[in-house]
Amino acid sequence: MDRLPVLFSCSHRRSGNSDRACELFLQGIRSAGGDAKMIHLGQYDFVPCHACGKCRTSREHRCVHIKKDEAQSFYQMMLDAPFTFFSSPIYFYHLPSRFKTFIDRGQWAWEAFNAGHPIISDLVQRNAYCCMVAGRPTGEKLFQGAELTLKVFLKFFRIKLNTPILFKGIDEAGDLGADNYKSDKIFKSGHLAWKTHLENHS
Ligand SMILES: Cc1cc2nc3c(=O)[nH]c(=O)nc-3n(C[C@H](O)[C@H](O)[C@H](O)COP(=O)(O)O)c2cc1C
Repeated sequence: MDRLPVLFSCSHRRSGNSDRACELFLQGIRSAGGDAKMIHLGQYDFVPCHACGKCRTSREHRCVHIKKDEAQSFYQMMLDAPFTFFSSPIYFYHLPSRFKTFIDRGQWAWEAFNAGHPIISDLVQRNAYCCMVAGRPTGEKLFQGAELTLKVFLKFFRIKLNTPILFKGIDEAGDLGADNYKSDKIFKSGHLAWKTHLENHS
């Protein structure tokens, strides 16, 4: 196994619920004999997409901001990884701003996908997993926008988003860690993700 899965923790708060979700997913992977890289995506500032349209015609659909931040290195990890995991809080019924800016910068992949460029079309379909947490204990539409956005973003990297793990009523930094049932669900999801990956490549 040369390429490791990548786990992106997307909160702006360190050592909170999203970080905990990533750690639990990683523990699950390790319990099945695997390993993964963890990126604290929420700690990185990204230059926003300026909608210049240059990625439509540039070499390998590269973004004009490619050298200005870490976005491209994280996209490359997504392209290389056998599977990915995203954990994120809900901010105002959506994804946190840094994560959303990272997603918007993925416009280059939308262009590459639609142009049939081999950088995307040569990829095999891979899986993504995710856990989102929200402070409010109720709310039918709490995760709707965030889930749809993540699913569409990943599609252009030829990554399929599995049914997300969604937890309401998780607000204080330690709430997820204190809930054994919810923690176990994430741990088991990581364990199964690694086993599924092994089965698909045996
Ligand atoms: C700016 C901001 C906006 C938020 N908006 C919502 C919201 O719309 N609905 C909700 O249920 N919780 C909302 N929350 C609460 C977070 O989703 C919740 O505290 C979550 O557990 C934070 O995860 P973290 O520990 O990974 O940062 C918001 C929190 C912040 C800081």
